[in-house]
Amino acid sequence: MDNSNIRNFVIISHIDHGKSTLADRLLEFTNTIDSRHMKPQFLDSLELERERGITIKMAPVRMIYNDYILNLIDTPGHPDFSYEVSRALAAVEGAILLVDVTQGIQAQTLAKFYAAKKQGLKIIGAVNKIDLAKTFNAEKQIKELAELIGCQFEEIHKISGKTGEGVQQLLTAIINEIPPPKALILNYQFSISNFGRALIFDSFYDDHKGIIASVRVFSSGGGDEFKSGDDVQLIAANEKFKIKELGYFSPKLKPSGKIMNGEIGYIATGLKDPEKIKIGDTIIRCQASSVRCQDFALPGYSEPKPVVFVSFYPDDADNYEDLKNALQKLKLNDSALNFEADFNEVLGRGFKVGFLGKLHFEITAERLEKEFGVEVINTFPSVAYKIKKNGEFKIVENPADLPDDFDEISEPMINIEIIAPTDYLGNIFQLKENFGMENIETKNMAERILITAEMPLSELISDFDDKLKSVSAGFASFNYELSGYKTADLKKMQILVAGKPVAGLVRVIPEEKIEREARKMVEKLKDILPRQQFSQAIQAEVGNRIIARETIPALKKDVAGYLYGGDRSRKMKLWKKQKKGKKKLLGMANVKISAEIFKKIIQ
Ligand code: GTP
Repeated sequence: MDNSNIRNFVIISHIDHGKSTLADRLLEFTNTIDSRHMKPQFLDSLELERERGITIKMAPVRMIYNDYILNLIDTPGHPDFSYEVSRALAAVEGAILLVDVTQGIQAQTLAKFYAAKKQGLKIIGAVNKIDLAKTFNAEKQIKELAELIGCQFEEIHKISGKTGEGVQQLLTAIINEIPPPKALILNYQFSISNFGRALIFDSFYDDHKGIIASVRVFSSGGGDEFKSGDDVQLIAANEKFKIKELGYFSPKLKPSGKIMNGEIGYIATGLKDPEKIKIGDTIIRCQASSVRCQDFALPGYSEPKPVVFVSFYPDDADNYEDLKNALQKLKLNDSALNFEADFNEVLGRGFKVGFLGKLHFEITAERLEKEFGVEVINTFPSVAYKIKKNGEFKIVENPADLPDDFDEISEPMINIEIIAPTDYLGNIFQLKENFGMENIETKNMAERILITAEMPLSELISDFDDKLKSVSAGFASFNYELSGYKTADLKKMQILVAGKPVAGLVRVIPEEKIEREARKMVEKLKDILPRQQFSQAIQAEVGNRIIARETIPALKKDVAGYLYGGDRSRKMKLWKKQKKGKKKLLGMANVKISAEIFKKIIQ
């Protein structure tokens, strides 16, 4: 079937530059959503997205406009969700690169631009929030964006997602400039017709329809549409199924009986086992039994590498299976999530979960609670360290697994790019020491400055984000990528309560910060831990050396209170007995830290 009237595109930008608001206007202009049902950031459908005002998930929608089929994918802006963006980019032919006129080009504008360019997409530039341009210099921003894209000043669209100004012209440009889906000609000795292939770029779970795959159908040159009831196969999973239902995103699921070649839509698999669906797998309809389906797999995606590790435990041991189930279902919808079984002496059975960043971790904990009703208790976020012991290298993802002695330890480093107004350069430089930034270079970009540096990933997941925002009045933005491992002077710190180490409170800390962190930790524990019949020592230990200590006094019980008057020797006897009892208790003490208290400690 002819697909010259199909346009597939994404909207990409830095955080908050107005992607979802522009998508709202496109939904309105194309009458996809009735104005009575319209609400701001319509495509941000997760409760959490609406609560936090950020996009977490890409959201596809099919619109019809002047006989054209426009498949749009709205994308998240935060770097922790860039895997969502990369998968969306691989499903389309064009991208609208949006820049907020009040902010100009930011770190994520650059990152998203280069990703779209690498994918070979047609990029249409647009400056947004033009309704605010009276107070901001739109000319300058337009010029900068045109330079970045390599197009003429006049080719940059001036739009307002809020008022709708310029959106009609942008729609026309989408139709005129973005190419229709191209056939992916198969490099195969047989000539096969009607050989549908669909790339799974996302998935989610439906209680009735089973796992639903969001797909982009790629043509091999023939009439390659998928129909309801087709017998198909998942190539990587080597699993066959009959298509239960398929259709388009409108943006709700709209069954259609078929998805045309070159289009974006969904396929309900009827499969219930989340393990069967892999993002990047190809769904194929094998017509001829003589061909090996494996030869037709679409390129798929490279697996994202988790960089932050946190262990999750159910708030109640009985909820372990619920947590497992929830993680499996969430992984369908968040393929960047990685997890494996874990055990903690205090918190019991749980999972060590790998994330793409700190926000990814926070959002996941919240999604588990909001979407699956599962509350979790977590350990401190950590990165994966590399240690050298007896000449052998080993990656350690959980600080508790770090041996007490080793020859060398190295930590993951990042190359960070910060863009900020020039006035804030001095303030940002003040962060240098605290966050271990090295090899700093700067480059002028009109009234802004691009700062590049190398720093430990562990610093990024501490409070770097907040500190950068506060020293730049919110104007600085950053992007980063892993650059490798670097040896560092790091120490393993463990916390002992009443002489016993508390599992889950082990951390790896740079030597120069360890005393401060140890003090903070023991003081916090002193405030949080309940008093017992005996006094409890809280100690921070680094390599058999106690570097900070606090004591929680015992609960006071006046054992001699009932003795009136002066029988001093009787009182002394009772006090001595009490002291002995407490000593005995302390010897047997197994201070049980409840899950609730553990949660407070980690907070
Ligand atoms: P993320 O997906 O989280 O990166 O955000 P986004 O790029 O989708 O931005 P969003 O559409 O959520 O808009 C961010 C803020 O900018 C919201 O408060 C919008 O109301 C506002 N906004 C978006 N477009 C315009 C515009 O054209 N004019 C004005 N004045 N405000 C706008």
